[in-house]
Amino acid sequence: MSKNPLRIKQVHHIEFYVGNAKQADYYYRNAFGFSRIAYAGLETGNRDHCTYALQQGTFRLLLTTPYTPQGAISEHIKKHGDGVRDIALEVDDADHAWEIALSRGAVPVIEPHTVTDEFGTIRRGAVRIYGDTVHSFISFRNGRDNYKGPFLPGFIESQASGRGAGLLRLDHYVANVELGNMRVWEDWYKNVLGLERFMTFDDKDISTEFTALNSVVMANESKSIRFPINEPAPGKRKSQVEEYNDFYQGPGVQHIALLTNDIIRTIRRLRENGVEFLEVPDTYYEMLRGRVGEIEEDIATLRDLRILVDRDDQGYLLQLFTKPVEDRPTLFFEIIQRKGCQGFGKGNFRALFEAIEREQERRGNLV
Ligand code: FE2
Repeated sequence: MSKNPLRIKQVHHIEFYVGNAKQADYYYRNAFGFSRIAYAGLETGNRDHCTYALQQGTFRLLLTTPYTPQGAISEHIKKHGDGVRDIALEVDDADHAWEIALSRGAVPVIEPHTVTDEFGTIRRGAVRIYGDTVHSFISFRNGRDNYKGPFLPGFIESQASGRGAGLLRLDHYVANVELGNMRVWEDWYKNVLGLERFMTFDDKDISTEFTALNSVVMANESKSIRFPINEPAPGKRKSQVEEYNDFYQGPGVQHIALLTNDIIRTIRRLRENGVEFLEVPDTYYEMLRGRVGEIEEDIATLRDLRILVDRDDQGYLLQLFTKPVEDRPTLFFEIIQRKGCQGFGKGNFRALFEAIEREQERRGNLV
């Protein structure tokens, strides 16, 4: 069996459906440091919705808002609040990817079709994944070099610089699914996309006194695409995954992890910009040296910025998690720097989940 049956190249972008894209554009530029590169909306002849395309490093984020209460975008926002609709995959041939995906059991959402403007042409289709989330398949006809526009056909150039926070690219993103469905989606990604299990965590790795979850990390052969899928595990109280699923009204993308090569500078900038992060207790830093051994960073600086550290046999990583970026306790971001370690911060799970539980408690959702 081919390791890459859909001939996936990379994640092309992630699209959020939001209630007010104009304000979200301002937030992601001024808080997270993205720059706007393109826009589509009334001024470009789109009378249904507008989309702002933002970029930092190689990661592209789309913010889409509908102009009317009718239609799928409004329904999505009504049900889920702001959240991820599409993890769009650039493929060699969107028609081929769509047909192979369907032949392997994927549910179609949009048939492959041509999108074109004066700058070039793409083919695009989409299949459904967990909840109301989709994977678009995008291919550039005759290769990417033949498309000369600012983002994708239908968009015009619209530049507004952000404050820059040193974020380089997507590291991973994480799905929360219902209890019992983690294996279902593991099988889906194996059978449809040809991904493989990269690592797993169970409730022995990821539990606190009150709550637990299971997680499986799926990856493609080159490891350029990898993402954990979480499900709640039985615990004394409602887990963070259940809280997410309750407020998102079903499964969806829980967090997006962005890579930096200078996490101290990045977190300092994001904090200056007003991004809110999970609180980490002082005791975490008292135990840090004993747990992770020698690291290049000054522990006092890490403590001031509340950055977490974890180590495996390959090296270490530094990471920190924002609070949810909507009023519903749903989607959040992770900032990560890797120094050899290819893991996901297993040694931090307990400290992290206890921090999340403190927030859940404040929200009245640790019941
Ligand atoms: Fe993560």
